Amino acid sequence: MNAPSTHPAPAATEKADDIILEVRGLKTYFPVKKGIWRRVVGHVKAVDGVDLTLRRGETLGLVGESGCGKTTLGRSIIRLIEPTAGSIHFHHGGERIDLMQLGRGEMRRLRRELQYIFQDPFSSLNPWMNVFDIVSEPLVVNRVASGSELRGRVESLIRRVGLKPDHLRRYPYAFSGGQRQRIGIARALALNPSLIIADEPVSALDVSVQAQILNLLEELQDEFNLTYIFVAHDLSVVEHISDRVAVMYLGEIVETAESGELYRNPSHPYTAALLSAVLDPDPDRRPERPRMKGIVPDPADAPPGCKFHTRCLYAEPHCAREVPVLREVAPGHESKACASCLERMRAEATGRAAEGVESASDRAEDVPHVSPAPLAAPVEDADNSPSNEGKQ
Ligand SMILES: Nc1ncnc2c1ncn2[C@@H]1O[C@H](COP(=O)(O)OP(=O)(O)O)[C@@H](O)[C@H]1O
Ligand code: SF4
Ligand SMILES: [Mg+2]
Repeated sequence: MNAPSTHPAPAATEKADDIILEVRGLKTYFPVKKGIWRRVVGHVKAVDGVDLTLRRGETLGLVGESGCGKTTLGRSIIRLIEPTAGSIHFHHGGERIDLMQLGRGEMRRLRRELQYIFQDPFSSLNPWMNVFDIVSEPLVVNRVASGSELRGRVESLIRRVGLKPDHLRRYPYAFSGGQRQRIGIARALALNPSLIIADEPVSALDVSVQAQILNLLEELQDEFNLTYIFVAHDLSVVEHISDRVAVMYLGEIVETAESGELYRNPSHPYTAALLSAVLDPDPDRRPERPRMKGIVPDPADAPPGCKFHTRCLYAEPHCAREVPVLREVAPGHESKACASCLERMRAEATGRAAEGVESASDRAEDVPHVSPAPLAAPVEDADNSPSNEGKQ
């Protein structure tokens, strides 16, 4: 996997054909309505000015707490949700296509290239369709294959995701969470897409099954030359699979860097707080004090200035007034942290190092990542959910 980049726009030296997606100033606001007349009294700013650039064949991890806007951003990029403003350019067949300008029919046709894997494998599959119908549906609807060719393609897909052809007659209830996610992956692959947005595809799964699904996604990426946006709320999962990570807070990207660099040198207090949460599963090793305070504010009433200021341990009066912008803090590493908070973060890290206390980045080596497990095919998930019992 190559390293992706986020804002700014691609430099002239970058090969244009490496870029697959450019998102600029993307906003998705949901109206808040009240009263019997359902008057619009405000907006939930779920995505509030996001810039991203992805290169072909790479994985961008998108991370942030629940409610930060990850799902809305992922769905807005492929217009499963209509964005409010901004631009989305998709590079395909030598063209730079402005997705925001496409009509419904054109967008539907292009969606063959842009697939989505849903978070919840239990509710994302139609319970009334058997696996053959679920996986074949995109091929049938788009008139890509029929008859024996269709059968052959579906069987090959289902084998490739680690299931067996005799699973094709069964219904979703007969499968474990991991197996259902494999079915969702087979369906997403059916039309041979270029870009897949995987929305927390392993969050609902046991850790052992998570590793199998992550391995599968990585193998498929190389095999099918896929580009991924991989959404997660857990930085440990994101680091394992991502070339680069974008950290999202209240609809904005607050930090982005190559994934190893982000762990070694977190440069926004929010990233440092998320990192300390995954680095210290052992209560004895957790920081003496929490790395941030409170909970995610209501995105319909986001704090002014730096949106993180109500939770930031370094906040100063100016933080409530000045809107920070993403700026480079190291090559390829951008952060919205202001100069004074970066200075304080660095001084703290230096102080800890001088005292011999492990810093977040020191402990990064010990992160209990979901490690790649050998993938046997076909896989029977180590998932002992009742629905899986006796149904293999
Ligand atoms: N259809 C919608 N209408 C109104 N608000 C929404 C809608 N979808 C999401 N939201 C709100 O947008 C914010 C971001 O949600 P979401 O994108 O699901 O975040 P995440 O995926 O990071 O958990 C949340 O406050 C959520 O309640
Ligand atoms: S700008 Fe202020 S509130 Fe925002 S991260 Fe920096 S110190 Fe914290
Ligand atoms: Mg979500």
